[in-house]
Amino acid sequence: MTNIISGKILSENKRNELKEKIAETKKIYNREPHLVVILVGDNPASVSYVRGKEKASLEVGIKNTTIIKDENITEEELLNLIDELNNDASVDGILVQLPLPRHINEAKVIKRIDVSKDVDGFHPLNVAALFSKQECIYPCTPKGIIEMLDSIHAEIEGKLACVIGRSNIVGLPIYKLLLDRNATVITAHSKTKDLAKITSQADILIVAIGKAKFVTANMVKEGAIVIDVGVNRNEETGKLCGDVDFDNVKDKVSFISKVPGGVGPMTITCLMENTFECYLKRINK
Ligand code: GUN
Repeated sequence: MTNIISGKILSENKRNELKEKIAETKKIYNREPHLVVILVGDNPASVSYVRGKEKASLEVGIKNTTIIKDENITEEELLNLIDELNNDASVDGILVQLPLPRHINEAKVIKRIDVSKDVDGFHPLNVAALFSKQECIYPCTPKGIIEMLDSIHAEIEGKLACVIGRSNIVGLPIYKLLLDRNATVITAHSKTKDLAKITSQADILIVAIGKAKFVTANMVKEGAIVIDVGVNRNEETGKLCGDVDFDNVKDKVSFISKVPGGVGPMTITCLMENTFECYLKRINK
């Protein structure tokens, strides 16, 4: 029987818990956590993600300021804005929505964010901490995926996990988090040969490649756990769909996440948790 891992329900529970914690803390410190999101340009997917972050902030009691900048903003102007926010004591978290326009160096922008306000966990110091098993802010999507696996008490230790995708945002950090749980982890990517041969051996398959319905039944192991990170627009229906062909795969696996209602809400919930974590560290300093 197939079981759905609902990121939506898990998220709702986690947001309720977080809302209570934030309300309690606010009573003591007399201010709420403050997240600033910077959106450059009007990429429809980014606009929708940023709206989701605003809605979630409101739900849990985080102050959200979204700063929208024209896509022609210069790199220097964006860096100056980040400096201002770094120096603003009322700001606990800074998130620059990615991708940025081509004329702006993303790595430079991420590095400019004060690491104590890096709610994305993308700053090189956070990445280094993650890869050397030191205290850090975990990137939101990988953190959410591990929580989804934990919610079904998935056995990770000793299992073969395959991650399709090697991005800084998902593929690389989820590789490390699974390794830290003692899985044997394979990273597959666009240059991987015989992809289906590899993925079909995986007990846990994480798919983050950005290709609609790419993973089909022949690519998954009977009884596997499949987490779909993809968010694609189905050209025919206009609806959102994942990287996994859900209907084709669902009867072969033991657990699977859906798109929408899977990883997406968990990513945003983890962002809320990270913002609260940065706020707590800052007020306790
Ligand atoms: N674009 C897609 N996912 C993310 C994310 O997790 N953080 C940021 N900053 N941009 C993104």
